[in-house]
Amino acid sequence: MEFFLDTADIGEIRKALAWGILDGVTTNPSLVAKTGRRFEDVKRDILALVPGPVSLEVTAEDTAGMMEQAELLAAEGDQVVVKIPLTPAGIAAVVQCTELGIRTNVTLCFSANQALIAAKAGATYISPFVGRLDDIGHDGMQLVEEILEVYEAYGFKTKVLAASLRHPLHVLQAAKMGAHVGTMPFKTMEQLFHHPLTDLGLQRFLEDWRKVPGQS
Ligand code: E4P
Repeated sequence: MEFFLDTADIGEIRKALAWGILDGVTTNPSLVAKTGRRFEDVKRDILALVPGPVSLEVTAEDTAGMMEQAELLAAEGDQVVVKIPLTPAGIAAVVQCTELGIRTNVTLCFSANQALIAAKAGATYISPFVGRLDDIGHDGMQLVEEILEVYEAYGFKTKVLAASLRHPLHVLQAAKMGAHVGTMPFKTMEQLFHHPLTDLGLQRFLEDWRKVPGQS
């Protein structure tokens, strides 16, 4: 499974890149707003740092406006993936992007039927929002499973990008199901490394190593 960081924070991206396991970045208007910086500046910095796919979201609500933004964003770099909401206007824009060879990430997906529509439009990625479904008492991970099943049945090439992952168990469940990508906050990615037995084991190894003659 590819690991994407769900952030617009440059510091977090730098740290995750240093681990060497970061495949891409997803952003959204809320994450950009959280930085307190201008979108132009955030976008420039992320694209300068991240060689893998970077999802940048359109904010227009009509197809023509989305296409105008999509073409400008796509021209910013080969790694740009245009993030488009799953609305009728958005899907019409995805169809046009597909025709133009612009990669898309269809966002705000909450049902398998929506995911089917996105795949028919030729989306590069579909983003089911797992955590937000869990928040309202639905099983978000079940949606990921359903989408994978439907895509498998028809051989769709659209990649399932499990989004709104909130904790390590979400990541594990998405991986076990075979989601192509998981996008997660920095904190969640960092949590994946940790296990108390790893910390304890390392501490003991290092203590013992200091007892080896000639070591200090
Ligand atoms: C996906 O690309 C979204 O940016 C993100 O995963 C939403 O997550 P949230 O529900 O934690 O805001």
